[in-house]
Amino acid sequence: MSAALSPIDKAKFVAAKRAAQFVENGMRVGLGTGSTAAWLVKCLGERVQAEGLRIQGVPTSSRTAYLAREVGIEVISLDEARWLDLTIDGADEFDADLHLIKGGGGALLQEKIVATASDRMIVIADATKQVDTLGAFPLPIEVVPFGWQTTKTLVEELLTGLDVLGHTASLRMNGDAPFYTDEGNHILDLHLKRIGNTRQLSLVLNQVPGVVENGLFIDICDTVIIGYGDGRVEVHDAEAGEIDSERFDFLETDNIFTEVED
Ligand code: A5P
Repeated sequence: MSAALSPIDKAKFVAAKRAAQFVENGMRVGLGTGSTAAWLVKCLGERVQAEGLRIQGVPTSSRTAYLAREVGIEVISLDEARWLDLTIDGADEFDADLHLIKGGGGALLQEKIVATASDRMIVIADATKQVDTLGAFPLPIEVVPFGWQTTKTLVEELLTGLDVLGHTASLRMNGDAPFYTDEGNHILDLHLKRIGNTRQLSLVLNQVPGVVENGLFIDICDTVIIGYGDGRVEVHDAEAGEIDSERFDFLETDNIFTEVED
C-alpha cells in the first residue's frame, strides 16, 4: 500500500478507478472538474497509455481540458460530440435520491450542460459527501457580472419565502478579486444550511434575471460510486439501490496519483 496517499486520497482514487472501468472503447466521455474528477482523468489516461483505450473526452473546465491532454486523452468540444455516452464527475453533496450539489470548483454550468447531454452520469465521491438532506454545503449559483449585487439582493429576498434555513449569499472570491468562471461569470454561494424542497428551489432560482444556472443536479445523476480510505468501493444506482461492492488494493505505483491536483 502506498504510504504517500492520505485516506481521503485513497477514497477518491478507488472511486475513480472503479468508475474508469465503466469506460469502453469508442465512448465519448464527459470529464468532470475537481480533485476527485482529476483522479478519474488520470485513471483514464493510464488506460489510454497501458491498454490503448480509444476515447474522446469532453472536459467541463479549462483545467480539466489541460489535464486530459497532459495524460493523453483526445479532447473534443461538446459541439463536436453533440451527445455523450457517459459523464463522470465529482460532487459536493449527494443524497439518497442521488440529487447533488455541485459547483464547489466553480464549473457547475459546463458540468450541468455536459452531464445533461449524456446517456449516463456517474458521480465519484468519498463518503463524506453523502448527506441526509442537501444544503450544509453552500449552494453555488452562476450569475452574470452585470448587476450582480442586484441579483444577489433579489436571490436573498427570494430565499426568505422558500423552504431553506439560511438566506444569505456571498460573492465567491479569488484572493482579493471576484472569482470568474470559464464562461466569464461570477459565483454566488448560498448559505442555506438545509434545503427542504430542492425542485422548487432549483426552478425558482433559475427564474431570477442574472442567474445563469444553479448547482442543484436533480434527476441527472444515475449512479454514485463511493470510495473509502480502506480501498472499499460501493456502487449505488438511482433505480436499483446498491448494486455492487468491492475492494481495491493499493500498489506502490499508485504513488503517481499523488501528483494529481485540482
Ligand atoms: C466543480 O465545480 C465541482 O462541481 C466539483 O465536482 C465538486 O466541487 C467536487 O469537487 P472535489 O472532487 O474536489 O471535492
